[in-house]
Amino acid sequence: MIHIPKAEYTRRRKALMAQMEPNSIAILPAAAVAIRNRDVEHVYRQDSDFQYLSGFPEPEAVIVLMPGRQHGEYVLFCRERNAERELWDGLRAGTEGAIRDFGADDAFPITDIDDILPGLIEGRDRVYSAMGSNAEFDRHVMEWINVIRSKAHLGAQPPNEFVALDHLLHDMRLYKSAAEVKVMREAARISCAAHVRAMQASRAGLHEFSLEAELDYEFRKGGAKMPAYGSIVAAGRNSCILHYQQNDALLKDGDLVLIDAGCEIDCYASDITRTWPVNGKFSPEQKAIYEIVLASQEAAFKQIAPNKHWNQAHEATVQVITAGLVKLGLLQGDVDELIASEAYRAFYMHRAGHWLGMDVHDVGEYKVGGEWRVLEVGMALTVEPGIYISPDNQNVAKKWRGIGVRIEDDVIVTKQGCEILTGGVPKTVAEIEALMAAAR
Ligand code: GLY
Ligand code: MN
Ligand code: MN
Repeated sequence: MIHIPKAEYTRRRKALMAQMEPNSIAILPAAAVAIRNRDVEHVYRQDSDFQYLSGFPEPEAVIVLMPGRQHGEYVLFCRERNAERELWDGLRAGTEGAIRDFGADDAFPITDIDDILPGLIEGRDRVYSAMGSNAEFDRHVMEWINVIRSKAHLGAQPPNEFVALDHLLHDMRLYKSAAEVKVMREAARISCAAHVRAMQASRAGLHEFSLEAELDYEFRKGGAKMPAYGSIVAAGRNSCILHYQQNDALLKDGDLVLIDAGCEIDCYASDITRTWPVNGKFSPEQKAIYEIVLASQEAAFKQIAPNKHWNQAHEATVQVITAGLVKLGLLQGDVDELIASEAYRAFYMHRAGHWLGMDVHDVGEYKVGGEWRVLEVGMALTVEPGIYISPDNQNVAKKWRGIGVRIEDDVIVTKQGCEILTGGVPKTVAEIEALMAAAR
């Protein structure tokens, strides 16, 4: 399996600490276990920031970073080993494992955090944390500070500045290292195989969930623990519902099916959409719409390179889609005016992409100082234009209604332009029809 190497986590902590103000401390909690229903937990997924800095996969843990601290800059609070609990729930690293296997300089039982952490915070001027995203943890931080305040008469010095950690950390996460790109390529490769398998299995009379099962099979077989987000398998008119999740309708002859799905490897997402005819052959209307979306995506790829700004790819898709809709008679008027009035939004109502990384909609600012961010080597993003003709749209001829097409790929910005990570799934009409014909 391809993983982020241990040395990379060390490098990330050092890089973050190098950017923190002098005499400060950063505190980050692990994700909580979420209850699904009585006695059943949701599959555990570590918090992305926590994972990014530690690679530590367990709940009930807190990372503490103290740049310049002589007795160790990285302290991890975690669950202790416990034979009884481990018999039921699985192995724990324990404090020894935190040091031995996860590079902590020091580790303490999470049950001791209220006694120990105020002492680590005391005397530091600034506290970095993800303020506002976890109300319960924010409250704990304040309790620890209040413990110090209550001892002020004894000379204890509480911190006087609270700083949001997000800005530093999320900017780091935006630039993918060589090791991250490797893991993302692997996630993309497995997701490509999953889409190919679903295309090959596609038949009228199956249900959307049958194709979801094909995706899940390839994800799991490839070593992915889970999809990066709820898979969208949307046939017929469901393809016009952007975040469709029901996945239980029948696949009908003559309909398209839109699948938006990607797996996660070592907490790195892939995010692919393909749209194909259930029966393996595009109708003339489906093909006409599909070709516009594909051309708009090609135009967007050309706008992804260092020194291009974030919105250029989106603008390229809007241009091609609007011109294409006018050509088909689905929009009437001057292309530039239709763009200025955003008339295309009746058919294309989302943006052309988002940052991609540990979160499928990854962290990182899209604007800096009010201007669209300029792309740089190592940034990862999706390119996912679409056209969705509502089944209820009375302004267009009936033959167009209910057609929804999205094509989505994942790219990394390179020196020359961009690398497409998800090129392993057929995309042209001819390629898709050939692959599906061969599977019949
Ligand atoms: N799967 C969600 C998205 O494409 O943004
Ligand atoms: Mn997607
Ligand atoms: Mn996406």
